[in-house]
Amino acid sequence: MTGLKKAATIVGNWKMYKSIEESLDFIKEFLPLIQNAITANSPKIYLATPFTLIKPISEVVKSTPIVIGAQNMNDAEEGAFTGEIAGKMLVDSGAKFVILGHSERRTIFQETNAFINRKVKRALKDGLQPILCVGETFEDREADKTAAILEEQLTSCLESIKPEEMKTIMIAYEPVWAIGKGFAATAEAAEEAIKICRSFIEKTFGAPVAEVVSIVYGGSVKPENCKQFLEQPNIDGLLVGGASLSAETFSKIINYQEELVR
Ligand code: PGA
Repeated sequence: MTGLKKAATIVGNWKMYKSIEESLDFIKEFLPLIQNAITANSPKIYLATPFTLIKPISEVVKSTPIVIGAQNMNDAEEGAFTGEIAGKMLVDSGAKFVILGHSERRTIFQETNAFINRKVKRALKDGLQPILCVGETFEDREADKTAAILEEQLTSCLESIKPEEMKTIMIAYEPVWAIGKGFAATAEAAEEAIKICRSFIEKTFGAPVAEVVSIVYGGSVKPENCKQFLEQPNIDGLLVGGASLSAETFSKIINYQEELVR
């Protein structure tokens, strides 16, 4: 690390929440609350919405720096896959990025590292920025297997990715035990795990790549704890679930620098 931090990226993950009307109301309330952050162009604001909201929300945030993306996609270009969605359909709707390998997809929908790797490659082909989620379970952590699990997930999910492609991929370290639980990892534990991810990227793709890749922390991030993560040298941003659903709460996280001086 050079010690120079990149502008933070704050990613909201709406999961399976909000109607079109609710999402438009959110944006109406949210934009005035984050005016200062928008003007200063810091931090970068990403919002991963349900598929049905990508187009309407993309249209209303067109003249703002807010970047809209999806929470999942299929690994095929197109085809007879009832109920699935293709990366190029997401691009067509206005999505710029896609979250892949979220722990809810891994555990509830049995997604494997190999499947996630195919999705990462497809997303790159389709012109979507992948946000690859990795993270250990509580049992892994108790058994002192955090580093091994992270390396295993990164090795498989990033198989045959080229260094130039890796520069565009964002990694989200999300310990499974901290997601939606109300208790986050400590900033030190998150920094430690993210350092493991960055060393892996350095070892596999080279130091210049490891230097530019954004690695964010996710798991019970709130306005009250966001600052401590963003102060860590290796943490480049946050992936926020529950706290991104309210415009007021999410704006407090976006405005973390202002909140500091108050
Ligand atoms: P949480 O979710 O902030 O509600 O813990 C984070 C995530 O699942 O991405």
